[in-house]
Amino acid sequence: MPKLAIYPGSFDPVTNGHVDIIVRGLKIFDHIIVCILNNPAKKVLFTVEERMDMLASSLNGLKNIEIASFDGLLVDYAVQRQANAILRGMRAVSDFEYEFQMALMNRRLNRNIQTVFLMTGLRWIFTSSSIIKEAARFGGNINGMVPKIVQRNLKQKFSTPDT
Ligand code: PNS
Repeated sequence: MPKLAIYPGSFDPVTNGHVDIIVRGLKIFDHIIVCILNNPAKKVLFTVEERMDMLASSLNGLKNIEIASFDGLLVDYAVQRQANAILRGMRAVSDFEYEFQMALMNRRLNRNIQTVFLMTGLRWIFTSSSIIKEAARFGGNINGMVPKIVQRNLKQKFSTPDT
């Protein structure tokens, strides 16, 4: 049976750290579904469609990848797609508590789905969508931290008068 994983997240927007996890995840899994889910704790900048477009463009050329979105519980989506693994990246110790809590909750909700963590590549250890948005909002240089399309879209978002 092919090994299928869901790589869930807000992806608001996708960063090079996310892309790195996907590329490395493909060495473990036969197929990865990159799925945008709702994180109620976050206020998002991009619509789901914008985030999906940026993912598609950033992952263009990668095989065995699918981009999706789902409104609901992650484990329900995993069951729906017959995936038995959730892939997550882990940066520093600061990520641990949140990731541990989420992995245990997901396990409690469905014991058949395993969360697999990959340590973020050293060069992406300090990058996050939030910190990149903050830097971009104030005109900081985010070159090399996000795919080109994301860089362009962030510039556009923050140059319009209504943001
Ligand atoms: O990139 P993020 O914001 O850290 O990703 C978090 C996300 C979207 C994966 C998480 O909030 C999520 O799974 N949301 C869907 C609802 C859910 O199943 N929550 C976890 C168990 S309560």
